[in-house]
Amino acid sequence: MTIKWVVLVTLLFMIFLEGVVCFGNCPAECSCGLDDRGRLQTICNKGNMRKFPERQIDTDVEVIRITGRGNTFTIGSLFTSFTKLEILQITDSNVPAIGQHSFWGVQSLRMIDLARNNITTITDDNFRGQDGLHELDLSGNKIHRMASGVFFHLKDLRRLNLADNSIEELVSRTFYMLSKLKYLDLSGNSLNDLPPDVFKDITELRELKCRRCNLKKINPQVYNLLQHLSVLDLGDNELKYLEKDEFHDLRRLKQIRIDGNQLSVVIDNLFVRQKNLELLDLSRNRLAKVTNGAFNNLTNLTHLDLSYNKLVRLVNVSVEPLKSLQHLNISGNMQMDLIDIKYTFQSLQDLRSLFVAEMGPLPMELLVPFRQLKALNLSGNHLDNALLLILKPVDSLELLDLSRNQLNGVNAAIASKLRRIKDVILTKNPLICDVCHLGSLISVMPSVEWPTIPECFLPESLRGASVMDINVNALDGCMEFFHDEGHDAASTSHNFLERSLLIGNLNVLAFVCGLIFVMFAAIILISFVYYSRHRARYYTHEEKRGEAGEKSLDILTIKGNEISFKFPMDDRVCTIDELVPPSPPPPPRCKPPITKE
Ligand SMILES: *[C@@H]1O[C@H](CO)[C@@H](O)[C@H](O)[C@H]1NC(C)=O
Ligand SMILES: *[C@@H]1O[C@H](CO)[C@@H](O)[C@H](O)[C@H]1NC(C)=O
Ligand SMILES: *[C@@H]1O[C@H](CO)[C@@H](O)[C@H](O)[C@H]1NC(C)=O
Ligand SMILES: *[C@@H]1O[C@H](CO)[C@@H](O)[C@H](O)[C@H]1NC(C)=O
Ligand SMILES: *[C@@H]1O[C@H](CO)[C@@H](O)[C@H](O)[C@H]1NC(C)=O
Ligand SMILES: *[C@@H]1O[C@H](CO)[C@@H](O)[C@H](O)[C@H]1NC(C)=O
Repeated sequence: MTIKWVVLVTLLFMIFLEGVVCFGNCPAECSCGLDDRGRLQTICNKGNMRKFPERQIDTDVEVIRITGRGNTFTIGSLFTSFTKLEILQITDSNVPAIGQHSFWGVQSLRMIDLARNNITTITDDNFRGQDGLHELDLSGNKIHRMASGVFFHLKDLRRLNLADNSIEELVSRTFYMLSKLKYLDLSGNSLNDLPPDVFKDITELRELKCRRCNLKKINPQVYNLLQHLSVLDLGDNELKYLEKDEFHDLRRLKQIRIDGNQLSVVIDNLFVRQKNLELLDLSRNRLAKVTNGAFNNLTNLTHLDLSYNKLVRLVNVSVEPLKSLQHLNISGNMQMDLIDIKYTFQSLQDLRSLFVAEMGPLPMELLVPFRQLKALNLSGNHLDNALLLILKPVDSLELLDLSRNQLNGVNAAIASKLRRIKDVILTKNPLICDVCHLGSLISVMPSVEWPTIPECFLPESLRGASVMDINVNALDGCMEFFHDEGHDAASTSHNFLERSLLIGNLNVLAFVCGLIFVMFAAIILISFVYYSRHRARYYTHEEKRGEAGEKSLDILTIKGNEISFKFPMDDRVCTIDELVPPSPPPPPRCKPPITKE
């Protein structure tokens, strides 16, 4: 009996709830319900709407989100009946203008997001009556001019996003009355300058972004006015140098991004007052030098990005103050002396993540100081099988990027090491899927959960096959495709590997190879004839090599049952496949992978 009653009451209650929630209107192309904070919402994300469906939307609605692509409509005083509306989002809808007094009377609005529309001008009467608004997003429009005081109705505004418009100048008092503003994004407007006057009205600002603003210099007065800043993002501008006391007034900074500028040096004591700084991004500049005292007082810094600069060294004295550093990125400093860097790394033993992608040759003992390392990026380093031994000291990795190297196999010891790592990236390596190169890896694959699964490069019949799908028992024992004696074949074979993958059409390459082969044959013939005319001489292999310098003429030699070839040093255009004769080599003699433990 009681159970029946419980069921009945529950059913009735649910019907009642449904009535409350769903009896209101809902436009046909939208969905309506409650959001995660229990507010009544209408979401229209199908796109291609020609009209804002104000009549079909429940007047009690609290959240309206119109986000589909390809809408085209205008807005105006459509919202007056939605007296409970808190969030209005209309994005990607080609809205051409906001309209006068559009939000008049909608006292409850807290957030208006009109990103990625076609708005060209804004005026102060667009926002009349919105003194309770907290957030306004107008990014990705075509606004080119904003008059003084254009936002003066928005007395309680905290966040303003004007990124990716066509604003070329900030007129004085643009932000008049926005004294509560905490977040301002001006990125992607060619402003050329940040006039201090403009910031007089927004001195409570915590976060200022002006990436891609064509800035060459920041007037120190701006910083003087913005003493509460904790995040400053001036990436992708044209800053050439930073004054000794550039950031003197910004004592509360936690993050500075000045990546993608034209800085050539970080001078001594630049950040001495930024004791709270946690993140410093100086990547993609022209830094040739970090002075000994550059990072003085940065004891709270956890993230340092110096990647893609022209640094030749990073000395231990510079990094000494960085007691809290956990994430270091020095990728892409191709001239950097990594032999010397072991002294620097000695003082950074607590690093959690180290990015050393796209560098010069890596010394074998590079990772010795880092027993705690969790993330390691070695992408694009010409690493071959033997150099994988570099991983020996690190034991607690969770992320390892080995992509874009010269690996064609891994031995059993490395395979079992990789198996314990949560995420290993091995893409863009010339992996050879046979038992002796990848057998050990293929057999541990069922127990890994890497997001990206490596693919075979050779043999050609397996190219592109996922290593996960391969049955070890069906594989060839050992193929000797490639015995590369060229000194830095890594770089070039790497390049043409990528190119051949890109082009996909190997016929062109085959033709070029043929041509080069014929040219070399001709050169041999001519030089032979030339020399034999002048003086009868007998060449040994060594002499010939000595005379021709790096340019060896041996392209293919067959020793015993191994085929090997050398690249002509300056003309490496051929892919591995084209140089291997079409008929399969004599029965393979299994050789262990080159890696040794
Ligand atoms: C955006 O506005 C411009 C001029 O204001 C107009 O020429 C263009 O057609 C508009 N684009 C769309 C998709 O409505
Ligand atoms: C920064 O460090 C220096 C010593 O290098 C010290 O004298 C100075 O007081 C520190 N500055 C600040 C603002 O903490
Ligand atoms: C540095 O970080 C610690 C812990 O994250 C924090 O308590 C401290 O206030 C920060 N600032 C300075 C100046 O040490
Ligand atoms: C440098 O490494 C960090 C991870 O530590 C990464 O978030 C950042 O994007 C890298 N920088 C560049 C320019 O790739
Ligand atoms: C820095 O490295 C040098 C060797 O280049 C060493 O002699 C010196 O003791 C190291 N200094 C610190 C503070 O670790
Ligand atoms: C490793 O570094 C390369 C080059 O900077 C980058 O493209 C790649 O995304 C990085 N890998 C990871 C996992 O972040």
